Amino acid sequence: MTNIQTQYAGLKLRNPIIVGSSGLTIKPERNKEFEKAGAGAIVLKSLFEEQIEMQGQSLLQETDYPEAVDYLFQYVKANQINQYLDLIKATKDRCSIPVIASINCYKADAWIDFARQIEIAGADALELNIFQLETALNETGERTRDLYVDIIRQVKETVHIPVIVKMGKFFNNIPAMANTLKVNGADAIVLFNRFYQPDIDINSRQIVSGNVFSNHSDISDTLRWTAIVSGMIPGICLASSTGVQEWEDVVKCILAGASAVQLCSALYTHGPEIIPQLLTGLEEWMQHANFQSIAQFKGTLNYANIKDPSTYERAQFMKYLSSRD
Ligand SMILES: Cc1cc2nc3c(=O)[nH]c(=O)nc-3n(C[C@H](O)[C@H](O)[C@H](O)COP(=O)(O)O)c2cc1C
Repeated sequence: MTNIQTQYAGLKLRNPIIVGSSGLTIKPERNKEFEKAGAGAIVLKSLFEEQIEMQGQSLLQETDYPEAVDYLFQYVKANQINQYLDLIKATKDRCSIPVIASINCYKADAWIDFARQIEIAGADALELNIFQLETALNETGERTRDLYVDIIRQVKETVHIPVIVKMGKFFNNIPAMANTLKVNGADAIVLFNRFYQPDIDINSRQIVSGNVFSNHSDISDTLRWTAIVSGMIPGICLASSTGVQEWEDVVKCILAGASAVQLCSALYTHGPEIIPQLLTGLEEWMQHANFQSIAQFKGTLNYANIKDPSTYERAQFMKYLSSRD
């Protein structure tokens, strides 16, 4: 009998397939469809502090009463947050799989305020979608690291539900960053978030949006860092994300050390129907390889468990390139 249950951030999931945060998870009815299709958990679309503020600003521009500014702003903020809390409650009412809320803020007090309300609304866990794009010439990497540390520490002091950090891949030392997050309380880490990709339209000479969706080649970086981080940091709990599109990718991420995978682009492209295909592929592969549980093969190809860890590193890259004519 094949058991595909997994433990993720202290939550028991019936399987490792998590629906990633995006516009796909903004409706409770749709979230129920993902559950019916077999998803192990759902991450709701992020509540963006910046978006709330932008909506507040646009309303303010329309008012002729400056004295109403504060009132209007607080009203918009409360309304947006309440809509999000309603989404959590309505999804929890319909679904029995874990529902993970997600927030993206830029002010320290907003992370804490949102986190507190989200826990009360009944979310099973909270994912912190931290996106800091450093551009100042006089800034150092330490400042970014300290910012992440402050956020995770303060949120952990505020809530009791598991807290997950969704990291971008633009750190000069990803394992060190992941370790810092774990030491400061992160119950799991998502490797990686995929940010807005800008492009340039050479005809209009405008900055436009690049490809919104990941493609399959993106899985390589995800696998490499899942394997290295999982092998270097004992006990760390990881979800692989970015480029997971086929059932083989799910198997690969678990072999590399992930407890779960998150999917977004594949769900936009194929709909919830892809979930049963991924699950069948995973189960059949496990049966064929004689594995009864995820734990039996999780991390067996991570950095600590393979004979030649340089396979994941630069040395291998040079060997590969120099062997090509
Ligand atoms: C249209 C769209 C909206 C997204 N919105 C969010 C979001 O609100 N919060 C978040 O953390 N990630 C968001 N993401 C990122 C995805 O959750 C995911 O990390 C990324 O797409 C990489 O996974 P994939 O390769 O399976 O697409 C979004 C992605 C897409 C394509």
